[in-house]
Amino acid sequence: MKIGIIGSGNMGRSVGILWAERGHEVFFSSREAAKAQAIAELAGHGARGGTNDAAAAFADVIFYGVRELPSKVFSATDVLASKVLIDCNNSPIPEDFAFEPIAESIAEKFAADVPNAHIVKAFNTFAQEVFELSPDPLGQYQVSCFVCSDNEQAKQTVINLIAEIGFNPVDCGELRRARMVEGLGDFIRFMIGGRKLGSYATISVHQLPQAKEQRLGGRKPGYA
Ligand SMILES: NC(=O)c1ccc[n+]([C@@H]2O[C@H](COP(=O)([O-])OP(=O)(O)OC[C@H]3O[C@@H](n4cnc5c(N)ncnc54)[C@H](OP(=O)(O)O)[C@@H]3O)[C@@H](O)[C@H]2O)c1
Repeated sequence: MKIGIIGSGNMGRSVGILWAERGHEVFFSSREAAKAQAIAELAGHGARGGTNDAAAAFADVIFYGVRELPSKVFSATDVLASKVLIDCNNSPIPEDFAFEPIAESIAEKFAADVPNAHIVKAFNTFAQEVFELSPDPLGQYQVSCFVCSDNEQAKQTVINLIAEIGFNPVDCGELRRARMVEGLGDFIRFMIGGRKLGSYATISVHQLPQAKEQRLGGRKPGYA
């Protein structure tokens, strides 16, 4: 796939290198084209570097690791038409991790800002350090990467890209579910920083095998 990395910081640089290693055509970008070119050299595998506009024009899939609205980052947004835009963002960490409840997610704000793009929320619930474990030994730990979007095809594209680099994609449904997924991002950052578990702490959903017998009496009607 042709992948543009907008905001080649910790997240974008890391995931872009991993996708380049998997054979994708990756274009790293920055407000300073020279910085993006240096990252492309680090990535190898034919990766390119340049401006944010050039990366968006090049790509079919855009990994967007910038908190700023896309309309403020690109000189024109028509270049995003029908493209997949992966939003990995979380809001800034407030003093003492006193996060407010999320009434509207960053992903929904992006969707309102650039309605011609297909926004997909993903990659916001683990730290950059976890990418360093990809693809091995990461795969053996079944680390969840939560995904939501209003466009099924875009979501499936991202699910495939997630699985390729050793994460376990977890389909969370439509884009409004990003409110919960961003809440998970806040929670894990609290655990990492506030509770001092460190950057290799992750949050995942696991499906357990059913109990062979209900020796505790099983579930009775009650609260859900
Ligand atoms: N780091 C993590 O472990 C982690 C984990 C999960 C989610 N996240 C979330 O992912 C997002 C990115 O995090 P990060 O750690 O990759 O951040 P970062 O290292 O600071 O990289 C962000 C990049 O965004 C670009 N940028 C910043 N302001 C911009 C603006 N106004 N216009 C255009 N580009 C701008 C910068 O690129 P140039 O200066 O080169 O243009 C910068 O390299 C954040 O929302 C963060 O909460 C981070």
